Amino acid sequence: MILGVLREGGEENRVALLPEGVSALTKKKINVLIESDAGSSSCASNEEYVDAGAQIQTKENILKQSDVILKINPPEAEGIPSGTILLTILNPLVNTKRVKELADAGITTFSLDMVPRSSRAQAVDILSSMATIAGYKAVLVAASKLPNFFPMFMSASGTIKPSKVLILGAGVAGLQALATAKKLGAVVEVFDVRTAVKEEVMSLGGKFVEIEGSKDDSAAGGYAVEQDEDYKKKQAQLIHDHAVKSNVVISTAQIPGRKAPILIRKETVEAMAPGSVIIDMAAGSGGNCELTKKDETILHKQVRIIGNSNYPSKMPADASKMLGVNFRNFMNLFINDEGIINLDFEDDILKSSCITHENEIKNERVAEVIDFENQ
Ligand code: NAI
Repeated sequence: MILGVLREGGEENRVALLPEGVSALTKKKINVLIESDAGSSSCASNEEYVDAGAQIQTKENILKQSDVILKINPPEAEGIPSGTILLTILNPLVNTKRVKELADAGITTFSLDMVPRSSRAQAVDILSSMATIAGYKAVLVAASKLPNFFPMFMSASGTIKPSKVLILGAGVAGLQALATAKKLGAVVEVFDVRTAVKEEVMSLGGKFVEIEGSKDDSAAGGYAVEQDEDYKKKQAQLIHDHAVKSNVVISTAQIPGRKAPILIRKETVEAMAPGSVIIDMAAGSGGNCELTKKDETILHKQVRIIGNSNYPSKMPADASKMLGVNFRNFMNLFINDEGIINLDFEDDILKSSCITHENEIKNERVAEVIDFENQ
C-alpha cells in the first residue's frame, strides 16, 4: 500500500504527518511518499523524513501512485486518480463545490471534521485536537496584545489588579482558553448556553455566568440547543454586562453546521475599556462579534478585534504532531497490520466521515445541503 502526504502551501504551516509518524506506518508495510518540503514550515526537513523511512517525491508522482492521500486542507480533485482514498478536513457542509468535484472524480473522501464526538472517536477527533491548540494560542495572543498584565502584582511600584477574561462558549476551545488564562493569573468568567458545563468550568477555576430559564440540553449529545427569544434577550444583556467589565473577551460559541451566533454587539464593543481585546475564534464561521472580519485585526474605538481563523497553523509543530496521530489512528480503522485496505462502512466513524465514494455523495446531511442548493 502506498500513502502520499502532500505539501499544504499558502498560509498553512502544518503538515498531515511528521517524520516521527512514519516508522509506525512502514512497520505495517506501508510505503510513505512525502512531497518535497511538505514539513519545512513544521520544523521537519526532507532529510528527517528519509531517515524515518519515507521517500521524497514530486506532487505529480504522489498523486499518480498513492492508494491513500493525506492533506489537511482539501486538494483539488484534478490529477487524483479515481478510486484514491483521500483523508482531509473538508468542512463539507460549507465547501460543497469541492465535495461535488471530488465525487465527480470518483475519489473516496473521508473528512475528519465529520467524525462523531464519541469516546471511541476521540483518538481521531481532529476538531478537538485543533480546538485545544487554538484555545491555548488565543489566550497567548490576547495577553501579548493587551496593554495590561494578566496576573495580579504587588510591588514597590504599586499593586496591579489581575486582568478579567470573559470566555463565551465552554467547548474544547473555551475550556482550554480558560485553563490557559487561569495559569497566566487572570480572573476568568465563562458563559455557555449549556448549563451542563458549569462543573467543568468551576473545576478549572472559572466562574460560570448563568441565565435563568434555559432549555434543557442534557439530551443534546454535548451540543447546544436553540433557545427562545426571551432567553436570547437575557443572554445579550448578560454578555454585555460582563464584557464591558472585562479586559479580554474570547468567543468560541457555535452550533455545528450553522453560522456562528452574534453575541457581541457593536454597542458592547463601544462600551468596553480602551485597550481591551476581543479574540473571535468563531471568525471562520461568521464570527461571534458583529464587527469581526475573518483573518483580520481591526481596531474599533480602541478595542482590538482579532478574527484569526487558523491558530493551529501558528503552532505548526505540535499541531502537526496531533494531526499526525489523528490521521494514523483513522487509517488504523481501515488498514490492517499487513497494509491491506478494507473499508467497512458499518463502522460508525467511517460511515459518518465518508463524504464521497464511487462517484456518490455518501453523507446524508451533506447530500441534503447540496440538493437544497441545487433547487
Ligand atoms: P464546541 O462545539 O466544542 O464548543 C462550542 C461551545 O459553544 C459549546 O459548548 C456550545 O454549547 C457553545 N455555544 C453555542 N451557542 C452558544 C451561545 N449562543 N452562547 C454561548 N455559548 C454557546 O466547539 P470547539 O471545538 O470548542 O470550537 C469552538 C469554536 O472555535 C468554533 O467556532 C470553531 O470553529 C472555532 N475554532 C477556531 C479555530 C481558530 O483557529 N480560530 C481553531 C479551532 C476551532
